[in-house]
Amino acid sequence: MKSLCLILVVLLALSGSFGVDRNNFKSCDQSGFCKRLRAFKPERSQYVADFSTQMLHDNMFFLDVNMVDLESEKRTVLFRYVLKVSGLVDNTFRVEMEEVNPLYPRYITLLALKDSPIGDNLKVISKKDGKLTLANTKGHRVVITADPLKIEFLDKNGEVAVVFNENSLMHVEPLVTKQERTDENGEIIPEEEGTWGENFKSHHDSKPRGNEAISLDIGFPDADHVYGIPEHTDKLALATTTSGEPYRLYNLDVFEYELDSRMAIYGAVPVLYAHGLKRTVGVFWHNSAETWVDVANIADGTVVSSLVNLVTGGQKRRVDTRFMSESGLIDVFIFMGDSPSDVFRQYTRLTGAAPIPPKFSLAYHQCRWNYVDEADVRGVDDNFDTHDIPADVIWLDIEYTDRKKYFTWDVEKFPHPAQMVANLTAKGRKLVVIIDPHIKREAGYFLHEDATEKGYYVKDKDGKDYEGWCWPGSSSYLDFFNPEATRYYSERYKFENFPGTNKDVHIWNDMNEPSVFNGPEITMPKDCRHWKEPQEGVEGIASYWEHRHIHNEYGLWNIRATHQGMLDRSDKKYRPFILTRSAFAGTQRYAAVWTGDNAAEWGFLAASVPMCLSLGIAGISFCGSDVGGFFKYPEAELMTRWYQAGAFQPFFRAHSHIETKRREPWLYEPATTALIRDANRRRYALIDFWYTLFYEHSRDGLPVMRPLFQEFPKEEATFTIDDQYLLGDKLLVRPVVTAAATSVQVYFPGGDTNTLWYDVDSYQPRVANGYANIDVNIAKIPVYQRGGSIIPRKERVRRSSQLMADDPYTLVVTLDANNTATGSLYIDDGETYEYKKKKYIYAKFSYTTEEMTYTFVNDKATYPTLSWVERIVIAGIKVPPKTAKLHQGDKQVALQMTLHRGNDVLVVRKPAATMAQPWKITFSY
Ligand code: NOJ
Repeated sequence: MKSLCLILVVLLALSGSFGVDRNNFKSCDQSGFCKRLRAFKPERSQYVADFSTQMLHDNMFFLDVNMVDLESEKRTVLFRYVLKVSGLVDNTFRVEMEEVNPLYPRYITLLALKDSPIGDNLKVISKKDGKLTLANTKGHRVVITADPLKIEFLDKNGEVAVVFNENSLMHVEPLVTKQERTDENGEIIPEEEGTWGENFKSHHDSKPRGNEAISLDIGFPDADHVYGIPEHTDKLALATTTSGEPYRLYNLDVFEYELDSRMAIYGAVPVLYAHGLKRTVGVFWHNSAETWVDVANIADGTVVSSLVNLVTGGQKRRVDTRFMSESGLIDVFIFMGDSPSDVFRQYTRLTGAAPIPPKFSLAYHQCRWNYVDEADVRGVDDNFDTHDIPADVIWLDIEYTDRKKYFTWDVEKFPHPAQMVANLTAKGRKLVVIIDPHIKREAGYFLHEDATEKGYYVKDKDGKDYEGWCWPGSSSYLDFFNPEATRYYSERYKFENFPGTNKDVHIWNDMNEPSVFNGPEITMPKDCRHWKEPQEGVEGIASYWEHRHIHNEYGLWNIRATHQGMLDRSDKKYRPFILTRSAFAGTQRYAAVWTGDNAAEWGFLAASVPMCLSLGIAGISFCGSDVGGFFKYPEAELMTRWYQAGAFQPFFRAHSHIETKRREPWLYEPATTALIRDANRRRYALIDFWYTLFYEHSRDGLPVMRPLFQEFPKEEATFTIDDQYLLGDKLLVRPVVTAAATSVQVYFPGGDTNTLWYDVDSYQPRVANGYANIDVNIAKIPVYQRGGSIIPRKERVRRSSQLMADDPYTLVVTLDANNTATGSLYIDDGETYEYKKKKYIYAKFSYTTEEMTYTFVNDKATYPTLSWVERIVIAGIKVPPKTAKLHQGDKQVALQMTLHRGNDVLVVRKPAATMAQPWKITFSY
């Protein structure tokens, strides 16, 4: 029997009117604290620092801050706080502010940070005129003004780069107990409505701790734009919100989410960057509660606004922001940059980079809700071969289970899962199966019985197992805060506990916002309770966390447990691949993310670029959208363009809704199938380039898919470009995302440095000079290789990436204006952790007119690859060499060369150098 919700989903899908039902989700005005805080606009901040309390200890500076009654003559202290400023490595500061002796501890996000941040030398360098100045070793300063409290972060030139509380919007709602308060006449002061309970539609939130929200205004002088705080569907450069809704960060399962919106969807990563011609800085709002962010960009004419005071003087460039969270602490990391790459690295230094993914996961994935049985899987798998389309992974959605009981199989439809997996792995392919975090409440289902008996479920406000409604019908949700529950859940991934799986079966964790069909805003009620380490004498409210405190982090707890389980199932031998829908800061350490339930519409194809760019700069490089669109059916042109775009996005997976027409590549006209084949083959030809990019990301934490301004930070036109991007610093991609396109505008950055961009199909170079109109037929994907780069390709595309492991390379060298080029290549076994034992090759290529070299960056590391170089294509040759000679070990071999195009493309034929050892080719003229 299909669940009620599935029927509902289907009915809605069939009803024709596509689009989000906004009534299901709160506006700022319907979210108590957002409304409260947005209305809070004091003329002067009540927060005052008391310099007499200053203390410096181990790179940490402490100071008391008082919230005073500005009306009272003596400025009565209403509440007391401790302000802590830490100096951290890599030009980073941290500011925390907490009540002195809070009534209950406030939740500090536990999983976002990879490790404890490392301190850097911080000292007090001056204290005068009500200002106290701290400095780190790199010459950045923090200037604290006492009355009212203001904190400025100064760049190396002594200019203010970031400022807190300049607009007096800092606020920490003090924790209080619920008791009747009376005025001087003994009259009961009525509580502000919503303090001890809030309603939304038919849902009541009991708010046992009352109001506990926090707010802070953060200004960025000299900034042209701010970016980040995914996940939203609007532009990469964030918009001014003054006359509309703020950006909302609250992980939600938004059915038929809308485009160009600041509404919250599945993921929430509270990191924001400010960029301008002068510098780039960033802030990470370390908080997992519901958060809203207002943005006011002076350039949008917002100087006199409800958000920004007239503090901006005559500045032309400045962006003001304001963060508001329902609970938690003021806890902010400040990245002093000063370039985009610096701030992106500073962020991933704290929250981690993605580890090297298993190589197959960078190839093509074929998914559908659902491949209905083993024969279907077999048919899809075979059809890729019949139609000569490479594919690495087949996916199974929820219907493979016994009535949505995860870790079980529908034995009618999937009686031989192990055999099914073996059929795939025989071709180098893998299987991914879905495991959602809701557990079917059914007597006899082992997981439900164990979780009930052992108390592993999230509790409702009264302490009973919380029951919600999801795919299986009545469901409960594992409480990953309970280490026992997490351990139990991780163990379910053991091969013996999940029969039919082996190391080649990987995991998709969906619905982990968590999605609760009958919950407020389709998620878990905020007054649900999560486990907290028991402490003697602590009971009642302080003995658990409320879901409100941790909501945006729930999915991260889920995938972390999955990751652990997948590591353990192979004794930590194989790298897990996990796809998650919910995302938070740090998610990248465990999983790839996709943009959820999009639709087969051109707008959603276009949105996939800014959405993934935004996630990418927020640490989550491994991003993609459902190729073809989840809802609705993509006609041939849209499908073709989506494959072409997806082939150049990090996570490349086709997926579709259960009620839509089947749309595997061979179900289209042969001409379309051929175009899809071509797109996939392009992906596979670049598989080692992708793998190298992800290796480099694992080391340097920089986005794989980059906004243009990252590489060209001084080029103003790039600041708002989000329909094209760079892969690493080498490929410029401008997917075609509109119907019936015969040309597209492509921006070629780097004009001031004479950057050359080579069309990857024709090797035609183009000197960067801003926008150009590029003709596109339906086969054309506008992709350009940067002059000065070397990219490894594998041109013998096979059924799966694994089968290509030992294939030879074609190296494509595109010369810059100085006739030089560099590149890199990473090789390892693609699936284990042996690379940690130095079983890998990380090599650099370098080309000058005299020689081309292939050298190992770490000569202690090596991998016995069988791959070799079968061709080197050098584009942009001005004077062709007369001879070329390969030097490898003791071997010296004269090589053949041919000239192509207008004699500016030189092909060195069959150098036959092995990639297992360094080599050099010398040229003579
Ligand atoms: C929602 C996911 O976003 C979608 O991709 C999936 O197919 C359905 N859940 C069913 O599992």
